Amino acid sequence: MRPLPLAAAGGSRLDPVRELSAENLARRETRSPATVSTHRNTAAIMRDMQNAPFDQIRFREALGRFPTGVAVVTACAADGEPIGMTINSFSSVSLDPPLVLFSIARRAKSFAAWQAVSHYAVNVLAEDQEALSNRFAKAGPDRFADLAVEAGPHGLPLFRGALAVLVCEAHARYDGGDHEIFLGRVTALSTAEPAGGAPLVFFSGRYRRLAASGQAHVAPGDSLSPRGIRRSAADGESGGSAPATS
Ligand SMILES: Cc1cc2nc3c(=O)[nH]c(=O)nc-3n(C[C@H](O)[C@H](O)[C@H](O)COP(=O)(O)O)c2cc1C
Repeated sequence: MRPLPLAAAGGSRLDPVRELSAENLARRETRSPATVSTHRNTAAIMRDMQNAPFDQIRFREALGRFPTGVAVVTACAADGEPIGMTINSFSSVSLDPPLVLFSIARRAKSFAAWQAVSHYAVNVLAEDQEALSNRFAKAGPDRFADLAVEAGPHGLPLFRGALAVLVCEAHARYDGGDHEIFLGRVTALSTAEPAGGAPLVFFSGRYRRLAASGQAHVAPGDSLSPRGIRRSAADGESGGSAPATS
């Protein structure tokens, strides 16, 4: 049986994995009891990959196994009307310069409007903002009707009660297949107090809540910096920053 091309050729540390097949995995299981459970597991993964052709539904299911937060991006369209869309493709990119990204489906009704805006705000939703998420994910006459929003920099609509608001300058856009990737440079931000506010979570196609909602996990001896970045006692004066990416 031919090995699956799991890693690109070129002698990486993953090379041994490329030699794995369901057959020789079974042979290896007899060698070292300590590795049996891992190899059984790997063999099951290999079988799954070999038996199933690429399938859109399974792809979506697999992506859904990655839990995310939920945000609503807001902006002012060229005609001055507010636009907003629920996203969970948000990701941090760079601390210096401060960059974030999200992707928007080309088929979205507001896609062209998003391509034209110079600034946008990312409103990170709290766990009690599920209704807001639904409102900005469904077609409707006016998503902003009867909604209490603050006017932020550049006239951007900002949500009250959001865990964090990141005001961004449109920095770049990249092809992302049936989506386009929007890279924003953060020019202003606000975080809700207290720092332990609980997020709205999206996982496996459903909204979720963190089990230990409202509680920041701060180990004894650690402290929260004024910007909410955890500093460990072991980090001393100079150390202790949150990772750039999740
Ligand atoms: C939790 C959640 C996350 C979503 N994430 C995205 C996303 O990252 N990008 C995207 O294009 N659509 C995303 N959507 C779908 C859009 O919010 C939805 O299609 C919206 O109606 C598009 O607005 P428009 O067609 O009026 O422009 C998400 C929906 C939900 C419920």
